[in-house]
Amino acid sequence: MDRAAEAKTQGALQLDAAGRLRHLLTLYQLPRPLIEALLARAAAFAAKPAARHATLAGRCVASLFFEPSTRTRASFELAAHRLGATTLNLEAERSSAVKGETLEDTLLNLQAMGVDAFVVRHAEAGVHARLARVAQAGVAIVNAGEANVSHPTQGLLDALTIRAHKGADFSTLTVAICGDILHSRVAASAASVLTTLGVGELRFVAPPGFQPPAADGQRLFDDVDAGIAGCDVVMMLRIQRERIGSTDAPDDAEYHRRHGLTAARLARAKPDCIVMHPGPVNRGVELASEVMDGPRSVILEQVANGVAVRMAVLEALLAR
Ligand code: CP
Repeated sequence: MDRAAEAKTQGALQLDAAGRLRHLLTLYQLPRPLIEALLARAAAFAAKPAARHATLAGRCVASLFFEPSTRTRASFELAAHRLGATTLNLEAERSSAVKGETLEDTLLNLQAMGVDAFVVRHAEAGVHARLARVAQAGVAIVNAGEANVSHPTQGLLDALTIRAHKGADFSTLTVAICGDILHSRVAASAASVLTTLGVGELRFVAPPGFQPPAADGQRLFDDVDAGIAGCDVVMMLRIQRERIGSTDAPDDAEYHRRHGLTAARLARAKPDCIVMHPGPVNRGVELASEVMDGPRSVILEQVANGVAVRMAVLEALLAR
């Protein structure tokens, strides 16, 4: 199933009959009022990062990560704690999955122990929708990264970060997403949320081999200098080496020379252009350290906003 087809299947699963969020599986065609409500709530959480809440007291949030993570996993755990929930981290490689238990059976067992939400990262497309189909009423599945299909909370935190710097009217903005777009779930979710929020111009800037299939509403560039010219926002992506064969991966130094964002290149964007990256960054490959650590970088703000966004999502799914 391709990315768009998978996202459409998930879209139908994640809302209840009243249009409320039951799971968070995808941002693709998630109604704009729901996205704006999540961003508004996340902005309120971000404004008071030291505040602690009891909204989810008595609830349990489990993390099931079948791929590595630093930011997403840690921020979901912090978000759950800041809302008063308990957390459970299942070490995928030490779980009974290695003895042949299906993921659905793992969910049913943890659900029987009283877990209320499952935050899941998996390299296989469709896993989150499968789990949403077997979760009992009131138990939520949260997509924390699905193959190259989507990463919805990353898309929300990216939108929140852009909003904080550029305001709520996205229609005047030109945003360039640059790098390995073909293999990037971050790019897919960013494109979904930016499109829904009415971004003025969305550019995909990628070398041949990393370009996504043509889609409506996006301009495709293979030259980074042309692609970032005049932009308000530049979002850099790393090469997703785990999703491409090692023989197909480009040489780091050559990639940086031809496609990496340097201070000289960034001068082509607007003077107040912000630079984003979902992390992890490969310094000196897609992004020069002078830019990553420079005044236009909002990368660590994205990370901080990740906690606020995940608080908003968990609250929307679990607060009674
Ligand atoms: N952006 C992101 O998903 O980072 P992690 O892989 O560290 O969670």
